[in-house]
Amino acid sequence: MSSQSQKLNLAIIPGDGIGEEIVEQGVRVLDHVLGHALSGAVTTDKTYFNLGAKRYHETGDVLPDDEFEQLKTFDAILLGAVGDPSVESGILERGILLKLRFGFDHYVNLRPSKYYPGVKSPLKNPDGIDFVVVREGTEGLYCGNGGSFRYGTPHEIANEVSINTAFGIERVMRFAFQQAMKRRKKLTLVHKHNVLVHAGHLYRRTMERLNREEFPEVTCDYAHVDAATIYLVQDPQRYDVIVTDNLFGDILTDEAGAVTGGIGLSASGNINPEGAFPSIFEPVHGSAPDIAGKGIADPTATILSVAMMLEHLELPDAAQAIYDAVERDMAARAKDPGLAKRSTEQIGQAICDLIA
Ligand code: IPM
Ligand code: MG
Repeated sequence: MSSQSQKLNLAIIPGDGIGEEIVEQGVRVLDHVLGHALSGAVTTDKTYFNLGAKRYHETGDVLPDDEFEQLKTFDAILLGAVGDPSVESGILERGILLKLRFGFDHYVNLRPSKYYPGVKSPLKNPDGIDFVVVREGTEGLYCGNGGSFRYGTPHEIANEVSINTAFGIERVMRFAFQQAMKRRKKLTLVHKHNVLVHAGHLYRRTMERLNREEFPEVTCDYAHVDAATIYLVQDPQRYDVIVTDNLFGDILTDEAGAVTGGIGLSASGNINPEGAFPSIFEPVHGSAPDIAGKGIADPTATILSVAMMLEHLELPDAAQAIYDAVERDMAARAKDPGLAKRSTEQIGQAICDLIA
């Protein structure tokens, strides 16, 4: 390898439902941007993993240990979607997606929310919405810390215990502050510390301490999660960086996607900032089984996830080329409503065409 060329070793998990179609376009834009914006200075090696409902039905495998180990060796992972109505809820989600998020210590779940002019939003004034949610990814109610007793009887007891550690909160909070420093220097903690007095105040105290000791330039504030759902609809422009726990982040980022014109445009990264494990980039939307195989799913969220992946891999120019192309495609859609009827493939092609 010459000093000028770099090879990215990528794992691709198309997964379920529309996963395959959208990932195909994500990969297409990836190859295109590396060939054009970077003139081929960076190339990729891609290894596809067959995980999801189909494999589960055929073999009973969810995510075998050897593949879990193999996945650790990549520079990054691109994932389409996981989950299918033919498999009992929780098996694939916990067995693939959450196993990877927890096993690869993805303590940051980064979910940007940006309004592209011209996109149809349910809000009267969506102009200028531009914030990121830093969702904690390895703790909270997602830990699977619970159980059922007297299962199936009228006296059944079901526990799901939320885990929140000082260590886990501090590291995600520091990442959120660092994001704020690169942006408009505003950080909002969303929690529910008037009720969840243990976890909520640990989050609050951690934010206040880091603000004082490490990031005095950042302006911090706080919203209870119920109020935050209102602000996201009435005044989302107020937000720059939101930091929150795993479950609140799950809920808020669906709403954040909706207000900027649809979850079909929302990208995300499950990130291990230290690079101890590969990070996973995926659209926020799910597998959309109702439209799977029809070639009509919008691949934009996946394409934006590819851009986030390139940013994470320290290829900001390539990432920016994708962001610019998507922005121009959105502007074109706004001018010509007929473009909304394009196929998955046509949108992928159009975005490639917009990359010089
Ligand atoms: C998401 C999804 C997942 C989550 C599911 C599929 C496990 O809703 O990525 O937001 O709850 O985190
Ligand atoms: Mg979700």
